[in-house]
Amino acid sequence: MLGNIRIQNVEKSFDDVKVLNDFSLDIKPGSFVSLIGPSGCGKSTLLRIIGGLEKASSGQIFLDGEKITKAGSDRGFAFQGSNLFPWLSVRENISFGLKARKIYKDKKNDVADMINLVGLSGFENSYPHQISGGMQQRASLARALVGHPKVLLLDEPLGALDAFTRMNLQDEILRIKNENDMTMLMVTHDVDEAIYMSDKVVVMSARPSRVEAIIDIDLPRPRVRVQDTFTLYRNKILDYLDLGGKIQEAEYSI
Ligand SMILES: Nc1ncnc2c1ncn2[C@@H]1O[C@H](COP(=O)(O)OP(=O)(O)O)[C@@H](O)[C@H]1O
Ligand SMILES: [Mg+2]
Repeated sequence: MLGNIRIQNVEKSFDDVKVLNDFSLDIKPGSFVSLIGPSGCGKSTLLRIIGGLEKASSGQIFLDGEKITKAGSDRGFAFQGSNLFPWLSVRENISFGLKARKIYKDKKNDVADMINLVGLSGFENSYPHQISGGMQQRASLARALVGHPKVLLLDEPLGALDAFTRMNLQDEILRIKNENDMTMLMVTHDVDEAIYMSDKVVVMSARPSRVEAIIDIDLPRPRVRVQDTFTLYRNKILDYLDLGGKIQEAEYSI
């Protein structure tokens, strides 16, 4: 399986502000990893560097052994808020990247498949303002997935959605991952979402950010949303974020 990301000693500064400090992380192919950390610590910056949309000041990132130097179709990107073009239909939004790369003619069927995959059949010709926020987010996911990336980068993709739509799309994203053999790296500020979806939760420290902790979520899938183990993981993560108050050592023995 492909989609191994190796982040090695990445540093990133904007002018005098150091955002990422000696950041290293190895992400296994096919895994689901969440990044969680204080606001402004550099989560989006890290994702943008992996996506090739931003350059590291030093250090390097490899995808399946190849150094990342620019954006590429092997990485799909979905952001918070759907970022759809309001003047394009759902189908045109999803096709946009393929058209830009001049491969749309050969990949027309992929667009139809993606529309199906994210459950938007029947809404191909709708414009973003004519569909719900959840459906917009589905379209945005389809757009990120249509080039069959090895890695899907998700920057708080569900942050703007109501709780039910959000849970629904969490399951949808996990289903898509299972059906498509890919690595997913997601920034979220929702601790429960991170626990529910991830193989590993990476807690980032305040700026200049590095890896504060990596928590393996050893729960069988499909997961149940409400269970005692969730609380233990939640306490542990909140504690690393310094939001949990101090919990007793014994509670860590999961
Ligand atoms: N293009 C940029 N130019 C200058 N500063 C930036 C730029 N992008 C991000 N920053 C700064 O880097 C820090 C980290 O931002 P960001 O990665 O968006 O944090 P997070 O996603 O964790 O909230 C913030 O202080 C932000 O103001
Ligand atoms: Mg961000």
